[in-house]
Amino acid sequence: MTSEPWPRQPGYDALAELYDRTFPGPWQRPLDRHSVDAFADALPRGGTILDLGCGTGHVTVELAFRGFNTIGVDPSARMLEIARKRYPQRTWITGDAHFPAADPVVRAAGPVSGILARFSLIHVPPEQVPAVLQSWAAHTEPGCQVLLVFQGLLESGQDVEEFPHAVARAWRWNPSSLAQALDEAGFAETWRAIVCPDQGHEYPECHLSAVRR
Ligand SMILES: C[S@@+](CC[C@H](N)C(=O)[O-])C[C@H]1O[C@@H](n2cnc3c(N)ncnc32)[C@H](O)[C@@H]1O
Repeated sequence: MTSEPWPRQPGYDALAELYDRTFPGPWQRPLDRHSVDAFADALPRGGTILDLGCGTGHVTVELAFRGFNTIGVDPSARMLEIARKRYPQRTWITGDAHFPAADPVVRAAGPVSGILARFSLIHVPPEQVPAVLQSWAAHTEPGCQVLLVFQGLLESGQDVEEFPHAVARAWRWNPSSLAQALDEAGFAETWRAIVCPDQGHEYPECHLSAVRR
């Protein structure tokens, strides 16, 4: 049993070094960079960004280099350890996809301008996703930007479906269903982009941007 309120990540803990070797940089495809650029461009200079499910922190640090106050959050102790070791001067805290409202570092940072969740919301059981999005809305102000990146479900009429993932249980979403869940929580979609499957990627990858109303 764990006393932590967030789900432990034995898969990511066990495979963190391999993950780091497999993905040694922040970008796998050009759109990865461009969607994060578009997210960052919509933020106020020096604003605070929460990277929920930051993993080894590559993308978080890209944003820190651009002058943002970044807070990387992840439930995997080992993934965070790699991030901390590589970028000790940045802020890394243990947590899950919920808004870490009780964390003293987050409280001290003031209003959050942007929330990034790249390939992390896929690990949240779908029935818990509305509560996660509501926690974001409860602790942000109008104008807060959100960028979700996730494996998409386009070919069936379903909202969400579990898919085989090498590391942990994961679900891929119809982007319209996730946009609707965001909308119901108080975030209006601003744009979406979808990369088609290719040899290295079995599923479409969706980039979904929204703003807090
Ligand atoms: C595929 S990695 C993505 C890392 C990073 N966001 C990126 O874009 O490179 C998924 C990360 O989500 C984290 N994760 C797993 N379950 C989570 C949850 N319930 N809430 C937040 N993050 C979670 C994992 O520990 C892992 O570090």
